[in-house]
Amino acid sequence: MTRSLTLTRPDDFHLHLRDGAMLAGIAPETARDFARAIIMPNLVPPVVTGAQAEAYRQRILAALPDSDFVPLMTLYLTEATDPADLVAAHRAGIITAVKLYPAGATTNSASGVRDFDKTRPVFEAMAEAGIPLCVHGEVTDAEIDIFDRESVFIDRVLDPIRGATPGLRVIMEHVTTRDAVDYVRSADADLAATITTHHLIINRNHILVGGIKPHYYCLPVAKREEHRLALLEAATSGDARFFLGTDSAPHSDDKKECACCAAGCFTATHTMPLLAEVFERAGTLDRLDAFCGHFGADFYGLARNAGQLRLERGEDPVMFPAKIETGAGPVTVFDPGFPVHWRVVARS
Ligand code: NCD
Ligand code: ZN
Repeated sequence: MTRSLTLTRPDDFHLHLRDGAMLAGIAPETARDFARAIIMPNLVPPVVTGAQAEAYRQRILAALPDSDFVPLMTLYLTEATDPADLVAAHRAGIITAVKLYPAGATTNSASGVRDFDKTRPVFEAMAEAGIPLCVHGEVTDAEIDIFDRESVFIDRVLDPIRGATPGLRVIMEHVTTRDAVDYVRSADADLAATITTHHLIINRNHILVGGIKPHYYCLPVAKREEHRLALLEAATSGDARFFLGTDSAPHSDDKKECACCAAGCFTATHTMPLLAEVFERAGTLDRLDAFCGHFGADFYGLARNAGQLRLERGEDPVMFPAKIETGAGPVTVFDPGFPVHWRVVARS
């Protein structure tokens, strides 16, 4: 029996499209199903000024000639970020949010913040102007175990920043722990979290048992099963503070399948079918629409999309491409490790 599901055209509130040779191959993978996405600024060099964000936006649009996809640009926060440039870029409609990477936390984050006191004026200007802060929530101290870096970040960095900057709207991105879910739930207002597709599917065993699986390695790294279950519960609970940000982060296979594998899972190609399968298995298919199409837009103060996406469920598993070819080499598509029966059949 075929079943169908009609959703609000979804948005992706955390996405890496890259640049240069990779951009043209990668951008259509998201633009096919999604109306808008928050575009991460961790290019080399990073997107740190309004002018750079506008130039990057134009390169993305040029890579998508026949699409109405809307890239929502972000600025990469550094200790030298000029609050006036940032507020002007937001007023001009060039940027939607600002991204905070602790220095060294993840791919291309060397220019990130070391001393959070230095960025205090920027946070205050953002709170005043209503500009959301997207946060990569991991400390980078060498003595902190990689599996504890998110929970330690909440106590040492995030909670103090929020306490010192009332009114700052914060999105804790790609949360991976029960601690983060609990922290978001404990806040009165101005705090939300994105959850990725892959963190709803894998735990750390998927990365490490039976040999190291580089295509499951991302940052923040997947944690124990109890944490995956906490994320699943949050995503499927109907709580508007949790919404989709895929963190689809393509790296060419030569960067993944080597002695020092880059962090990132690439899920843009089939995120909506994967999520339909995940929500169906959880018995919460009726909550997928809000998770992908309502809650994020609402938190960001954007109108919900008018278009729709229709998915159908067949009896047979759907085959998705194993790799996407790009000008920078092939990129492996995330393998959920279970059959997926849903496919997108119509977009408007
Ligand atoms: C991202 C990337 O490759 O840019 N990698 C990842 O593992 N998610 C960076 C990030 O969002 O941490
Ligand atoms: Zn990311």
